[in-house]
Amino acid sequence: MNFYFAIITLLVLGTSKADQQDDFSVLKHGLEDLLRTGVASDSLKNISKNFQLKFDYDGSFYFENISGHLACDLCDSVAKLFLELREKWHAKENILTDLLVTVCDTFHMQKKKVCRGILGPQVDVLTYIMDNSPNLTGERVCALLTINFGCDQPFAHFNWTVDVPPKTDANSKQQKPKKDETFKILQISDVHFDPLYTPGANADCGEPLCCQNDQTDVKNPSDACGYWADYRNADVPLYTLKELLNQTKTHDFDMVYFTGDIVSHRVWSTSVESNMKSEKIFRDLLRKTYDVPIYHVLGNHEPHPLNFYSPNISNKNISSEWVFKSLADDVRQNFSNETIQTILKGGYYTVLIKPGFRLIVLNNNICQYLDIWLLLNDVDPYDQLKWLVQVLSDAEKNGEKVHILHHVPSGSKDCLPVWSREYSRIISRFSSTIKAQFNGHTHLDEFFLYYNTSKDDKAAEPVSVAFNGASVSTFVDINPSYKVYEVDTNTLEVLDFEEWTFNLTLANSQPKEPLKWFKIYSFKDHYNLSSLSPKSIDDLVINMAKNKEMLRDFIRFSYRLGNGSLKKCDADCEKAALCRIITMVPSYKAKCEQIKNIYDTNY
Ligand SMILES: *[C@@H]1O[C@H](CO)[C@@H](O)[C@H](O)[C@H]1NC(C)=O
Ligand SMILES: *[C@@H]1O[C@H](CO)[C@@H](O)[C@H](O)[C@H]1NC(C)=O
Ligand SMILES: *[C@@H]1O[C@H](CO)[C@@H](O)[C@H](O)[C@H]1NC(C)=O
Ligand SMILES: *[C@@H]1O[C@H](CO)[C@@H](O)[C@H](O)[C@H]1NC(C)=O
Ligand SMILES: *[C@@H]1O[C@H](CO)[C@@H](O)[C@H](O)[C@H]1NC(C)=O
Ligand SMILES: *[C@@H]1O[C@H](CO)[C@@H](O)[C@H](O)[C@H]1NC(C)=O
Ligand SMILES: *[C@@H]1O[C@H](CO)[C@@H](O)[C@H](O)[C@H]1NC(C)=O
Ligand SMILES: *[C@@H]1O[C@H](CO)[C@@H](O)[C@H](O)[C@H]1NC(C)=O
Ligand SMILES: *[C@@H]1O[C@H](CO)[C@@H](O)[C@H](O)[C@H]1NC(C)=O
Ligand SMILES: *[C@@H]1O[C@H](CO)[C@@H](O)[C@H](O)[C@H]1NC(C)=O
Ligand SMILES: *[C@@H]1O[C@H](CO)[C@@H](O)[C@H](O)[C@H]1NC(C)=O
Ligand SMILES: *[C@@H]1O[C@H](CO)[C@@H](O)[C@H](O)[C@H]1NC(C)=O
Ligand SMILES: [Zn+2]
Ligand SMILES: [Zn+2]
Repeated sequence: MNFYFAIITLLVLGTSKADQQDDFSVLKHGLEDLLRTGVASDSLKNISKNFQLKFDYDGSFYFENISGHLACDLCDSVAKLFLELREKWHAKENILTDLLVTVCDTFHMQKKKVCRGILGPQVDVLTYIMDNSPNLTGERVCALLTINFGCDQPFAHFNWTVDVPPKTDANSKQQKPKKDETFKILQISDVHFDPLYTPGANADCGEPLCCQNDQTDVKNPSDACGYWADYRNADVPLYTLKELLNQTKTHDFDMVYFTGDIVSHRVWSTSVESNMKSEKIFRDLLRKTYDVPIYHVLGNHEPHPLNFYSPNISNKNISSEWVFKSLADDVRQNFSNETIQTILKGGYYTVLIKPGFRLIVLNNNICQYLDIWLLLNDVDPYDQLKWLVQVLSDAEKNGEKVHILHHVPSGSKDCLPVWSREYSRIISRFSSTIKAQFNGHTHLDEFFLYYNTSKDDKAAEPVSVAFNGASVSTFVDINPSYKVYEVDTNTLEVLDFEEWTFNLTLANSQPKEPLKWFKIYSFKDHYNLSSLSPKSIDDLVINMAKNKEMLRDFIRFSYRLGNGSLKKCDADCEKAALCRIITMVPSYKAKCEQIKNIYDTNY
């Protein structure tokens, strides 16, 4: 799951009060003065309580009815000043960090140590970018940071295309039908194991990740972190992860897809050393556990700072190159030099698993607007999509079928619309070659549809499905889980999957007992589907919009019946859940409006 903090902390979402122009100008001038003087004025402190600064993981950042233009206006003036501080006044990193920490602190966005822990390393990257792009404007900075505020057209500032060859007829090589044969894939996602997890520590800690041994004491006994993990801001300890891996071995499967995010949510104290250590522990553990091939995807939590995947730069202090090197070292013995080369270049690769079955693994964390390296260059980072087109063209020529793995669902608002649009263009073009996609990041058991056009068109036809692997981490309000897919050996189509979990509340109430794992459901059976084809799943979504029971099951299952499934989900929340599935590009509305209409005419 994404934790957005970043310089985004400067952006303000208005409460009803903040819509008032008076409050807003106090805020704006207060922030400007703060940047000029380093001091938060009394009036700024006074006004701070009227503004809700959001940087949390829960999605509330994205409400569209927020007074967007105020945030846009504010960002413009603040970003301009901030750039000037470096360019004109040569402010040092520590000064800039202090300023941002003061903002963070004044608005009580986080405890001061958390503000500093997150912002310090980010400022090191930001100053590098400012120093190395003399044409960087406040406008461009804000275009990135306010991408979801509707300040401009979604493609006004970030608008590029990749060359995609036209469809040819020559590629419909029919395979001769063979016997029904299937194989199985285990998907594990978003592990976020926490080496510092402390049972009994405070789960109501007021920091992004709780259950640490250096936080405030427990006040109410009910705030004590559980033994196995906790529904509140907590990740899983290593022993819980080990139990999960052991449990997966009760199934037969032929390969493992790990779809990213190893490092815990202690985002204010990551470092290259500690991240590298967690990543190594996890990969060693997988290798020791399984005797089948394991395919790794990089998550947005792997680099330090979080989300920041750098281009190839010589300053090793802020380069994320080590993430690629450490993955390459881990898989070098298995893969060809060619495969290793693209891992080193950008954390992506392709492997021919067997004749006719090609796997493509992307590092699509660079679609995230929170990766401020995009300020330096947003155009197809690492030439990855260009490479993807080439690999898919070759696969098509050779009659291969493909599975694609990536971490961030591309229709999510975490992704830049331009990256998502170009990605969906590629998926549409090669949909007969691509048989399934698998991703993670949201920690929810869910799935996403792609259509036969990259346009915002309600008449588009479904052509591809991405299955989200949910998470091992309980962050937030969910039961740890894994999925086992059954796949047709000849077509590589997913035939069904089952999802397994345990009840965390029950487990923590009897910590000495072995975990009681159970299957939540089989997708195909539960929804009574004839297949898991894009068309069949598109029909399912339409049925969910008409049938509340089905939709509610989908939402409950998305949390694996964990505490999140007890939360009230009103009509807007239910419609949003449907829209997530069918939105390929974050700014697109047509499919979403269509499904909302179906929902509204049925209730
Ligand atoms: C603080 O805010 C209140 C209203 O919210 C206002 O009456 C008061 O004058 C403000 N004080 C300062 C120092 O700005
Ligand atoms: C900024 O300048 C560099 C060359 O110095 C150029 O490559 C890049 O496209 C420019 N970026 C923008 C957003 O104008
Ligand atoms: C984006 O680029 C396309 C093609 O290059 C162009 O047709 C379109 O008008 C651009 N959109 C914006 C908002 O600039
Ligand atoms: C691992 O799983 C097996 C069953 O598959 C079980 O017998 C064993 O106790 C488990 N070990 C641990 C450490 O949980
Ligand atoms: C990698 O190689 C090792 C040793 O040769 C083998 O045990 C493992 O299964 C291989 N993994 C993959 C992904 O092929
Ligand atoms: C990298 O960090 C070290 C230690 O903080 C510092 O001495 C060195 O100058 C930095 N290198 C660059 C290129 O900034
Ligand atoms: C692959 O790379 C290694 C060193 O990185 C080299 O020793 C080996 O010869 C290369 N193999 C091929 C087939 O190019
Ligand atoms: C990074 O850039 C350097 C210098 O241009 C080059 O030698 C090196 O091969 C590049 N590394 C990768 C992984 O592309
Ligand atoms: C998508 O499919 C629909 C229905 O077959 C068709 O009307 C439409 O033209 C297709 N769009 C594209 C871009 O191929
Ligand atoms: C999980 O266990 C708790 C405690 O036994 C129970 O109250 C709750 O209903 C269970 N949840 C589910 C989804 O079964
Ligand atoms: C399942 O679907 C089939 C048709 O595909 C239908 O005949 C049957 O009634 C459905 N069963 C349920 C329980 O909805
Ligand atoms: C789980 O959710 C229920 C109902 O919302 C709440 O009362 C309870 O405190 C939650 N438990 C935890 C551990 O968050
Ligand atoms: Zn995650
Ligand atoms: Zn993630």
